[in-house]
Amino acid sequence: MFRFSILFLLSSAPGFCLVAEEPAVHYSEKAPSRDGTGKVYMGREISEVVSQHAIGWLERRDREGEERPSLVMDQLGLSEDSVVADIGAGSGFFSFLLAPLVPEGKVVAVDIQPEMLDFIEGRKKLKQVINVQTHLGTIEDTKLEAASVDLALMVDAYHEFSHPREMAESIVKGLKPGGRIVFLEYRGEDPGVPIKPLHKMTVKQLTREMKAVGMEFVEVRDFLPIQHFIVYQKPF
Ligand SMILES: C[S@@+](CC[C@H](N)C(=O)[O-])C[C@H]1O[C@@H](n2cnc3c(N)ncnc32)[C@H](O)[C@@H]1O
Repeated sequence: MFRFSILFLLSSAPGFCLVAEEPAVHYSEKAPSRDGTGKVYMGREISEVVSQHAIGWLERRDREGEERPSLVMDQLGLSEDSVVADIGAGSGFFSFLLAPLVPEGKVVAVDIQPEMLDFIEGRKKLKQVINVQTHLGTIEDTKLEAASVDLALMVDAYHEFSHPREMAESIVKGLKPGGRIVFLEYRGEDPGVPIKPLHKMTVKQLTREMKAVGMEFVEVRDFLPIQHFIVYQKPF
């Protein structure tokens, strides 16, 4: 009542007008570098989307040798009833590796491309998998239910999100308190990793971006040939 009266008095005072708060500006622009979009977030130019995102590329046979996804599964520390969001799931390469690890839980395969989700649906039928759920997000929003996810996994995806700040905020919202985000990103500190610079990520940069949305750094485990395995946690 008191606050209302003050607001009323102020807004009815001569010359007073209520000004809507400016939304925070998270991005700046620069001349696009090779493979870049020219859009800059926290000092990092966002990469262009690679044309190799064809399903055939994501499902390539030598991926186990190159990226060792089976080792990744051993490191995730999942429980049988965990809810995992595979964000930027693509063809579901990781979603179908995760599914048998959470028989009492589920894998929510999030992507913005309906054709990727159709491919996952086809494979679900073929393999008779019932605990992978396809989920269409937008470039700014996972549209996950609030506090519903134990682990968000992002493999080779975050560095190319066109709206990393909004996506990160939306992922954090979808996590349960104490929930984790695991990133697999090509190691940006290592010039020997044969990937274009804007498609790599350093631990320092990612940690800045995660801290900005309230996530706490937990650890980096460098057991993979060319990627970091980086863990963050949402505070309880
Ligand atoms: C390089 S692919 C990686 C696919 C998968 N994680 C894998 O490793 O096999 C990146 C995927 O992220 C998806 N993507 C891009 N922006 C997204 C966003 N804002 N939300 C969800 N998915 C997104 C793309 O559609 C694409 O399928």
